[in-house]
Amino acid sequence: MPSPLTVLDSLGRPMRDLRVSVTDRCNFRCGYCMPREAFGPDHAFLPREEILTFEEIERVVRATVDLGIRKVRLTGGEPLVRRNLEALVAMLATVDGVEDLTLTTNASLLAGKAQALADAGLHRVTVSLDALDDATFMRMNDARVPVQRVLDGIAAAEAVGLGPVKLNAVIRRGINEHAVVDLAEHFRGTGTTVRFIEYMDVGHSNGWRMDDVVPAEEIVAAIDARWPLEAVDRDYRGEVARRYRYRDGAGEIGVISSVSQPFCGDCTRARLSADGRVFTCLFATAGHDVRTLVRSGADDAALADALRAIWTGRADRYSELRSLETVELPKVEMSFIGG
Ligand code: GTP
Ligand code: 5AD
Ligand code: SF4
Ligand code: SF4
Repeated sequence: MPSPLTVLDSLGRPMRDLRVSVTDRCNFRCGYCMPREAFGPDHAFLPREEILTFEEIERVVRATVDLGIRKVRLTGGEPLVRRNLEALVAMLATVDGVEDLTLTTNASLLAGKAQALADAGLHRVTVSLDALDDATFMRMNDARVPVQRVLDGIAAAEAVGLGPVKLNAVIRRGINEHAVVDLAEHFRGTGTTVRFIEYMDVGHSNGWRMDDVVPAEEIVAAIDARWPLEAVDRDYRGEVARRYRYRDGAGEIGVISSVSQPFCGDCTRARLSADGRVFTCLFATAGHDVRTLVRSGADDAALADALRAIWTGRADRYSELRSLETVELPKVEMSFIGG
């Protein structure tokens, strides 16, 4: 039950998870997130002075924890391209009330960073991996990183206690559908849970079409046909993935069906962009600036009041309202607010 101090939004949803984007940059160019046509050499990334410092991020995190946040996930862009990220992890690891401190990464730089992140107090990592063969992997992310580098990153994370790793795989019709069975086969029995994500209409540059989406039901059916599955109850209210277990005991998979079966009713996620704006939905068209407040010397009470007002005014349920018109909205890019 929420404590009396818990802040609820206008649809009765508490604030539980904070996703902190530490940079809008990434060394990959996944077509579903940062297509090279839109994020080419001329793209204007955020200038350094607009990006929150680690101290400023810590301050916002502390304020949100007082309002109910229990889970903090660092994202990007690619969070590991931000220099010295482990210093931020170390700062956040000391915040009382943060029960889960984690990171979503493409793992291209993870092998070299895993030990420092674990030493700093990170609890676990989630890795994005969309295929196991280099040709498809590179077609998905338009970068020159071999799959093996990601597998090495996962192994390094597990070796230093950041496991079991969860994997995110976005599935696009006609591009990596075969990765569903490949990934399931490879990670069955390893303790790594693969979560298959329906390709979403986030941002406004990926040219999303409903025809490109492989519905979760089809993904589950493809795996179930090879290795029979059974549904598992959710771990916690607001969990985005629906879980299935292999009947032969080889572990679990998950599906994130934001398009075919939206889960806004339980959405407890707030997002902080690298430039200090709070977004109350992944599909928002605008954020609420808190950087100005933080930099103007506002005290903790003023910051808490501002965050409370943002959350109590929240009415977002984009995925439930998705329609031809909403798909066309100038939504914020996913690389800007993290996954
Ligand atoms: P766990 O704590 O490991 O269960 O992580 P999580 O459920 O927070 O999952 P994660 O952050 O890895 O999210 C997985 C993916 O689900 C993201 O990369 C997004 O693609 C999608 N996703 C996460 N949150 C939302 C959300 O609020 N709305 C929508 N539509 N999709 C989301
Ligand atoms: N649809 C679904 N998931 C996406 N991600 C990024 N863009 C999309 C999209 N259009 C997810 C990736 C990655 C996380 C950071 O965001 O899977 O795991
Ligand atoms: Fe980079 Fe992740 Fe976006 Fe791919 S999905 S471009 S790895 S931020
Ligand atoms: Fe939450 Fe918005 Fe995603 Fe719905 S669409 S689950 S409100 S982030």
